Amino acid sequence: MTLSQPPRRDTRLDPYVETYAARTNDLQVSAVRALFAVANRPEVVSLAGGMPNIADLPRQAIGEAFAKLVVDQGIQAMQYGSGQGEPFIREKIVEVMAEEQIKANADDVVISCGSQQGLDLVTRVFCDPGDVVLVEAPSYVGAIGTFKANQCNIVHVAIDEHGIVPELLRHAVVLLRSSGKKVKFLYTIPNFQNPTGITQTLARRQALLALAHELDLLLLEDNPYGLLALEAEPIPALRAQDDERVIYLGSFSKTFAPGFRVGWVLAPHAIREKLVLTQESATLCPPVFSQYAIAAYLDQFDWRGQIRTFRDMYRARRDAMLQALTEHMPPGSTWTHPKGGFFVWLTLPEGLDSQAMLPRAVTARVAYTPGTAFYADGLGSRNIRLSFCFPTPEQIAEGVKRLGDVIVAEQEIHNTFGIESDSFVNRRNLTPGPAPDTN
Ligand SMILES: Cc1ncc(COP(=O)(O)O)c(C=O)c1O
Repeated sequence: MTLSQPPRRDTRLDPYVETYAARTNDLQVSAVRALFAVANRPEVVSLAGGMPNIADLPRQAIGEAFAKLVVDQGIQAMQYGSGQGEPFIREKIVEVMAEEQIKANADDVVISCGSQQGLDLVTRVFCDPGDVVLVEAPSYVGAIGTFKANQCNIVHVAIDEHGIVPELLRHAVVLLRSSGKKVKFLYTIPNFQNPTGITQTLARRQALLALAHELDLLLLEDNPYGLLALEAEPIPALRAQDDERVIYLGSFSKTFAPGFRVGWVLAPHAIREKLVLTQESATLCPPVFSQYAIAAYLDQFDWRGQIRTFRDMYRARRDAMLQALTEHMPPGSTWTHPKGGFFVWLTLPEGLDSQAMLPRAVTARVAYTPGTAFYADGLGSRNIRLSFCFPTPEQIAEGVKRLGDVIVAEQEIHNTFGIESDSFVNRRNLTPGPAPDTN
């Protein structure tokens, strides 16, 4: 089968433009990246990034443990290792997953360079160009990027405050299959979703698993925030309820530190072998020293206590954000109340466009991520993702206040000049099609 190639968007001034692979065509520089350079200035409060706050880690003690690791085990720790990842860290990961009621065998765990690489490995194992991947609307920008880079056809399925809507999922799968499309899997973030902060309820998880069974659909569950519950204990993972239909992605980035780049994929046995071969072709083996370092951390430190410390710190930041939103957002704005994770999803009053407003916000010394980044189909222009993970509660209060002032000023302009509201705002779109640049 030959796929018709869309015209390249690169500049003709690039002398290699005729040589690049088609898959690079959708790798676009973010329209907001230039603004983020400005947003990183110290006077700007950034509510944009998703960086964890790791300042509370006991760095001195960790440094000493790692120094000892180099001296005592450096010969193995700095050597090449297994393509699947080292057995001892895979055993530890089984213990970590048990915290979320997942029963697993270390033999079915594949180590990846962060869960981001896990996303890529799974996509490469399952997807040919043009295959459909279903994703929540909205969804994690990095996953959308991976699916685009692998030339997948991204089709969004709407979520509500309880998570993905089963009837809409059924409708999308039936429609796509009847038009001859291959639907490879549904990508879902059930806990404290990035970007909305929404958590899939237990009833929704059960409905989703039943539907996946009925439709013979694979689920790709991405769970980097599950242990960062800020209220009740987390709801059991999808993988805790089904070990055949769910491929699970985990990560130490949010519960320890992202710089080690250690995540994992837990997959049914048959898939596991394909993932290992794909991992070997990409990296030979995932970073061995990082795996030793994380295993040492898990062995020698109270990592569960550290997660409780992280939760207390993030809860204070989440509360500061919700309080500031209540104080400073004008009527017509709504926002989610996340029970964990890093993000609040703000919906602007009707008629406002978060991407158009961003330069004015940055001028007012506050930055955010416009909602369009989290859709592959251009929606989300009335939304904003606000991160409460990195700034202090005081910075959050100040940043949200500045944002409130910007929104009020924007509303006045809108009311005075009567600029048409974006007709795509919050429209539920189930139509598969080529994705415009949104990253
Ligand atoms: C939902 C989700 N998945 C995956 C990742 C990637 O995390 P990492 O590669 O650091 O494990 C992130 C990072 O922010 C995320 O929010």
